[in-house]
Formats: sequence, C-alpha cells, structure tokens
Amino acid sequence: MSRTLLVTGGAGFIGSNFVRLIRRDRPDWTVTNLDALTYSGNLENLADLEGDAKHRFVRGDICDADVVRHLMSECDVVVHFAAESHVDRSIQDSGPFIQSNVLGTQILLDVARAANIDRFVHVSTDEVYGSLPLDQPELKFTEESMLAPNSPYAASKAASDLLVRAAHHTFGMPTIITRCSNNFGPFQFPEKVIPLFVSNLIEDKPVPLYGDGLNVRDWLHVEDHCEAILTVLERGAPGEVYNVGGDNERSNLELTHEILRLMGKGDDMIRRVQDRLGHDRRYAIDSSKLQSELGWKPTRSAWPDALEQTVRWYCDHEQWWRRVKSGAYREYYENQYQGLV
Ligand code: NAD
Ligand code: DAU
Repeated sequence: MSRTLLVTGGAGFIGSNFVRLIRRDRPDWTVTNLDALTYSGNLENLADLEGDAKHRFVRGDICDADVVRHLMSECDVVVHFAAESHVDRSIQDSGPFIQSNVLGTQILLDVARAANIDRFVHVSTDEVYGSLPLDQPELKFTEESMLAPNSPYAASKAASDLLVRAAHHTFGMPTIITRCSNNFGPFQFPEKVIPLFVSNLIEDKPVPLYGDGLNVRDWLHVEDHCEAILTVLERGAPGEVYNVGGDNERSNLELTHEILRLMGKGDDMIRRVQDRLGHDRRYAIDSSKLQSELGWKPTRSAWPDALEQTVRWYCDHEQWWRRVKSGAYREYYENQYQGLV
C-alpha cells in the first residue's frame, strides 16, 4: 500500500537514516520531512536525496500548529522523531526539551487527530524506564517496566509518551510507541559518545570518560532501529508499545577500549572527567515482543564489525563532522568539559 508520510526531525541522525531507508525500500512512498534545523539538524545528512521528487524538505517547527496542519492535510502517516535528544544539554537547560518534546508532541497529536491520520508512530527511548543495576544482568526493560525517567531529557520523553498513550486511550487514535536503546552509525551528532570519541582521536585530542566508566549501554545500529520503525508502522498494533534493542551491552570503558584499538591509540588518550549528574547506570532492552509478534530482528549491529564500519565512516567523512564541530558547538564543548579535554 502506497503511503504519504510526514516525518518530523528527518534532518537529524536517526530521522535522516529513516528517510533514506524509506526512499530505498519503499520507492513509491512519498515523504514530507519537517525539521526546524536546530543545532543537531543538518541538511548535509540528506544531500544524497537532493532532486528526489518523492522527498520534500520543509524547514519548520513542530510547535507551529499552522505549518503542521497544512502538512498533515496532505499525509496519511506520521513518524515523529523531532526532539531535543542530548542528556547533557538537558542538564544544562531543560527548557527546550519541554518545548519541543512535550509541547511539540501535544501539538502534533492534536492536529493528527483532527486530520484523521491513519497511523502515528512516536519514536521514544529506553531512558524513560530509568536505570538498571549492574549486579543483576538478567534484568532488562520490558514494555511493562515502570516509567522512571531520571534526566530532564528522559522526563520530557516520558511525558510525550504519556500524551501519546492518552491520545489512543481517550480518542482511539492509531498511535504506536517505540522505545529504543542507544543507536550508533553514520550522521550522529558528535556530542554523542561514539562520534565524539572518534573525532577527538582523529584530532589527537583525549576522550572524556565520565565517572568510573562502568555505566552500561545496549548498542543498536541505526539502520536496525529504522527497520524496526518501518516494521511497526506496517504491522504494529495501534495502542501498543514496542521495545527495540540490540542485545549488545557494553560498559563505556569497554566501548572506549574498542574505539582506541580500532584507531590504533593507547589508554593514555582517556581523560577521566567528572561524572554526569544522575548518570543512569545501565540500560538493557528486552525486544522479544517486537521479534516474536512482528518478526523484526537486528542484522547490522554485531560488534566488532558494525562498530568498525561506523568508526571508518567518521574517519572517511571528516569534512562532515569538522563543519558540525565548528561554530556554536565549540561553546557547548567548553561549557560541558570545562577545558579538561
Ligand atoms: P538528533 O538530535 O540527531 O535529531 C533531532 C532532529 O529533530 C534534528 O534534526 C532537529 O533539528 C529536529 N528538531 C528538534 N526540535 C524540533 C522542533 N521543535 N521542530 C522540528 N524539528 C525539531 O536526534 P536523534 O538521535 O536522531 O533522535 C531522534 C529521536 O529518536 C528522538 O526523539 C530521540 O529521543 C529518539 N531516540 C534516540 C536514540 C539515540 O540513540 N540517538 C535512541 C532512542 C530514541
Ligand atoms: O538510550 C537511548 C538514548 O541514547 C537516547 O534516548 C538519547 O537520545 C541518546 O543521546 C543516548 O543517550 P546516552 O546519554 O546514553 O548517550 P551519550 O552518547 O550521551 O552517552 C553514552 C554513554 O557515554 C553514557 O553512559 C555517558 C557516557 N559519556 C558520554 C559523553 C558524551 C561519556 O563517558 N563521556 C562523554 O563525553
């Protein structure tokens, strides 16, 4: 069935990978891509789609109800990525997180209901479940786990999840929520740990490791995440939540050692810096519902190969991250790392 999609946040890391996947695997679908081009939105992420008649980029804010209303009148499905996405920035200033993640989602939902949208996929995060202990490795987040967000970012995402849930419960809207673990792959903004560490090492700068480095994340390749979103869009049940994860848990120290090894650098490049405030200890996702009910499984996430390809991508695309790391990024970096790295 041919679809007309409104993708929000499609100039960011995951959104741009998703738009590319749709244009490749669903060539008869049409995509309108609404993105405000905040600091993390980048049209260079979509350069290969220039001139594609089935991809239309619109610069605009999801909080602008008039723009959203106009675009939704021409679409039948919404896939909602647009958000402030970096935990450290939410600790510095949570205002933009409430504005885009909470208010923006409410505006999209209200307009989508009036426009009778066929399906509304809300892209959320495992961070809404809070933190797991290190000493109980058998514990993982399921869709029934309690929401216990710990950072302002996670709290804003949990609030948006609850608005989406309420839109289904109260108005019968055909909403679906996905909650995914940490993504890696091409076009990730270099404030996030993997592109930050790789680009620092290329510049021969040390890498800032928070606290004891034992915090654990569950890493999934961005294309596996995008395929999961496409799967729930086509086959998911309205009102449901689907966890998405890679079964690929690593401590930050293990991740750092792996990156150092791949780049031929030594442990002397590690700078231990002050821990992130409220730093969640461990995330681990049980994605068996998505796997058994909808038949999704990750195919691109296995380490060390997948990590090596990602490291190589940043080595091969120096111009891309060098442009991103200039300008306003420098101010953020100074503020975050206080001249330590
Ligand atoms: P990103 O920061 O790279 O991209 C976010 C995009 O949203 C940017 O292009 C930005 O310009 C746009 N945007 C922000 N506010 C907007 C607004 N008010 N109006 C219109 N556009 C706006 O983030 P990402 O890593 O690609 O994350 C995308 C989504 O996936 C987010 O909702 C995030 O919570 C979720 N998520 C991310 C991960 C991860 O590991 N990166 C994992 C799970 C879920
Ligand atoms: O779990 C999904 C989430 O993954 C998404 O919802 C978020 O949008 C995404 O940013 C990511 O959040 P994290 O906080 O886990 O990602 P980040 O890359 O910022 O950090 C990963 C780990 O690395 C975390 O434990 C903190 C640590 N870290 C991070 C930075 C930036 C460091 O040790 N040093 C750093 O400089």
